[in-house]
Amino acid sequence: MAKITCKTGRRDFMGELYRERAFLGTALHAPVRGQLEVLRDALIVVGGDGAIKAIHRHGSGEASSQAQRFAATDDLVTLGRTQYLLPGFVDLHIHAPQWPQLGMALDLPLEDWLQAYTFPLESRYADVEFARTVYESLVEGLLANGTTTAVYFGTLHLPATRILADTCLQRNQRALVGRVAMDDIQQCPAYYRDGSAQGAEAQTRELIEYVRAMPGNEASLIRPVITPRFIPSCSDELLTRLGALARETGCHVQTHCSESDWEHHYVLRRCGKSDTFALDGFGLLSRHTILAHGNFVGDDDIALIRTRGAALAHCPLSNVYFSDAVFPLRRILQQGVHVGLGSDIAGGSSPSILDNARHAVLSSRILEAGVDPALDRSQRRRPDSRIDALTAFWLATAGGGSALDLPVGVFREGFQFDAVVIDASVPTGNFRLNGDETPEEVLQKIIYLAGRANIHEVWVANRRVHQGLARS
Ligand code: GUN
Ligand code: FE
Repeated sequence: MAKITCKTGRRDFMGELYRERAFLGTALHAPVRGQLEVLRDALIVVGGDGAIKAIHRHGSGEASSQAQRFAATDDLVTLGRTQYLLPGFVDLHIHAPQWPQLGMALDLPLEDWLQAYTFPLESRYADVEFARTVYESLVEGLLANGTTTAVYFGTLHLPATRILADTCLQRNQRALVGRVAMDDIQQCPAYYRDGSAQGAEAQTRELIEYVRAMPGNEASLIRPVITPRFIPSCSDELLTRLGALARETGCHVQTHCSESDWEHHYVLRRCGKSDTFALDGFGLLSRHTILAHGNFVGDDDIALIRTRGAALAHCPLSNVYFSDAVFPLRRILQQGVHVGLGSDIAGGSSPSILDNARHAVLSSRILEAGVDPALDRSQRRRPDSRIDALTAFWLATAGGGSALDLPVGVFREGFQFDAVVIDASVPTGNFRLNGDETPEEVLQKIIYLAGRANIHEVWVANRRVHQGLARS
């Protein structure tokens, strides 16, 4: 929808003005992993450019005078008694075209799942009308779940992938959008494959140029991301070309890494090294690389990922299903690697990053506790593997933002105001506050219990992008 220019600023599709605004209420965020910071009844002032200008603590003279100033022009958003402001959620790994497949076909191994379900579905995005319908529903659905930053694989169709970028921009969802590159004759079906490495590179370049030049995207809300599907799908020539393109353009890169036994061993056989080292050799591993999964990364891989500053997208449910193992999240966090969460739509079953945060806690607990009750407790455990709900919250917000090297995920001056207003007490929700919970307990309830019904409002760069039915 077209932007309307008026005296005070431009309007977005929901009629919000690009103007300074202030938010008054209790904000919960985790700038440091494992530590909750409570900004009780704080006033967050946000500029027309979407960046946080100031955070005034409750009781300061500045907080009350500024609140009055914003209230006078109707630019003060005041949270209700049971509402909490959280940083918007970051989803590091989404296959946009797999939205129609979400929640089905989760019983096959990766290599069969791709051939039987995923490639046939993805090939349908040659039809731009199909793409438009699915992508509008997807972006709306993810915003309603509080995903303010989304990292998308599209398909190999350039027009459909442009539509995905257009849709994110229109809905004002912060997004990284990639056209999938896949040219390997053995691994990709003839009906869904790039004709040549050169052609795949050219179309990737075209998408980069398109996204960077989109009118209305001057602030780079939408960014292009170079997207070799995974090593098995790509020829060495294609990987080499995309590595050079990454260096030339400075774009983010996303791909899958050591996801399943089959995939991990296929790469070892073909490349004589693991995914991580092979990707590095192709020039695809940098501070702006997001590696999905990484279930089978070894110590050398972890060290290399850390050295390059790349990030891992932990997709907890999909990781368990496709790897038949549990991603050693805590060990990897302790080694200083950037990690965030991914839904892996549709290898995972939920579009909600809150659900994925719960799954991350659960799978880490299972790794720590063990799975086979026939074994003695001492034998079935892998000690020191669990994460808690607060760490999961950090992964969903600050961890994801720092994985992408973007100023999102915490409430801090200069960071973008991407936020979710959670209403902890809605009749259609699954939880109530008793009134005597500590902020840590409130956050635990949110992480374990909040759902779409509790998502009252969603804001990206100071623009309201979703309004739920929740009222306190
Ligand atoms: N590896 C290659 N393609 C895919 C995909 O679409 N989903 C997942 N989970 N892994 C992949
Ligand atoms: Fe994936």
